[in-house]
Amino acid sequence: MGSLSSRPRRALAALAAAVLPGLLLDCSSASESAAPADGGDAGDELAPVIADSGTEMEADVVTGPREIPTSLSGFGLFTGGPDAKGRLTPVAGTIPYELTSVLFSDYALKARTLTIPPGSKATYRPEGVLDFPVGTILSKTFAFPADSRQPEVGVRLIETRILVHQPSGWEAYPYLWNDEQTEATLVPGGRVLPVSFVDPKGDARSFDYLVPSRNQCQQCHHLVDENGAQLLGPIGPKARYLNRNNVIAGTDQNQLTYLANAGLLDGLPGSPPRAPDAFDPASGDLESRARAYLDINCAHCHNTHGTAGITSRLFLQHDTTDRFSLGVCKRPGSAGGSLGGEFDILPGDHARSILWHRIDTTESGKMMPQIGRALAHVEGSQLIADWIDAMPAETCQ
Ligand code: HEC
Ligand code: HEC
Repeated sequence: MGSLSSRPRRALAALAAAVLPGLLLDCSSASESAAPADGGDAGDELAPVIADSGTEMEADVVTGPREIPTSLSGFGLFTGGPDAKGRLTPVAGTIPYELTSVLFSDYALKARTLTIPPGSKATYRPEGVLDFPVGTILSKTFAFPADSRQPEVGVRLIETRILVHQPSGWEAYPYLWNDEQTEATLVPGGRVLPVSFVDPKGDARSFDYLVPSRNQCQQCHHLVDENGAQLLGPIGPKARYLNRNNVIAGTDQNQLTYLANAGLLDGLPGSPPRAPDAFDPASGDLESRARAYLDINCAHCHNTHGTAGITSRLFLQHDTTDRFSLGVCKRPGSAGGSLGGEFDILPGDHARSILWHRIDTTESGKMMPQIGRALAHVEGSQLIADWIDAMPAETCQ
């Protein structure tokens, strides 16, 4: 558990000078200058900006903003590089987690971790993301196996995305893995790189994979608070998505119960809600699985507080009950409307439903989400087709 405290607080005076303007401008040239050519940790040689004033105990309590390392290893979340199966080994105190239903990202394998600073805890929330204390770090690592039918062989790590809860709010940082797979380096401006793999159906796929820039993180990890302020925040770690088993510290156990028992989560009720796995018929009916798919893949933009939701008036949260807000018999107000029909959803007819076409297509300007994928999600588009086709047919006006 003391893993965070044992990391020296590295100082990044020169880095701050080099990276921070880049973060504000968020252009790729800034990312080039921010990343040390050798992938090393520039912070090592610099004098501390925040004086390391003392004991292990004091170091545990997060008092100021965390310095952002140029290298992923600077966070101290993992030990060593990836193993033969492409898996990173979290240090004690860094907890792997899975969601009941996930975001589609071009068939990438994803591994997520959660690190709550020693001495702090999260608070349960029934609906939104758990209330994580300042100092919390969330990570998500994207990898591709050479062949998705053998996902544990020939795995190449591409990027690790980090969300850090600073005293001033959450911040998002992308780290790009090197070819040697020994380190990942901060790329504030993102990167496009060629990826080839064999998909779960056995088809060879080659495409340009996008490591999002910091500005692009904001497009999805965007929130508007009660006062209308624009914020960035986590999306996935809501109770209903975390409410499932996972192997943590060698034991298969419920993730929420684990957090509560470890003293890292306050207020967990006896039966927290659970979102179904969109692709496991045993976990819910077609309606609830389709809605879970739309919730995790679309609702971070299409909600009543999101810019996309507000402009399109399409609200895809799992608890949207108004059929028109879900797209039923709704004429799109926005671009991409020329695709496949007049209405977002024409009940009973997916082929004439714009919402289905926008999931199915890979045409830029039309596909949804418009960022975060380059490939079509065959299984997702089938699920939504089935859901629309199962709706009793009606004539929309
Ligand atoms: C296309 C939308 C999209 C973009 C762009 C995006 N994310 Fe996310 N991200 C998501 C969604 C949806 C989840 C939750 C579902 C999941 O984990 O699969 C998520 C999850 C995460 C998580 C795990 C914690 C959480 O919020 O659920 C981290 C860390 C993260 N993203 C960091 C980043 C960073 C850093 C960037 C920019 C470099 C970024 N993301 C860009 C949609 C996006
Ligand atoms: C990164 C943010 C983002 C995500 C994620 C996203 N959308 Fe969108 N969506 C938008 C924006 C912005 C618009 C308005 C501009 C346009 O139509 O392209 C829009 C418009 C739409 C429209 C037209 C709606 C109307 O009535 O005007 C449909 C349908 C749609 N999205 C479906 C989806 C679906 C389905 C998903 C998930 C698979 C999704 N979107 C995910 C940002 C997003």
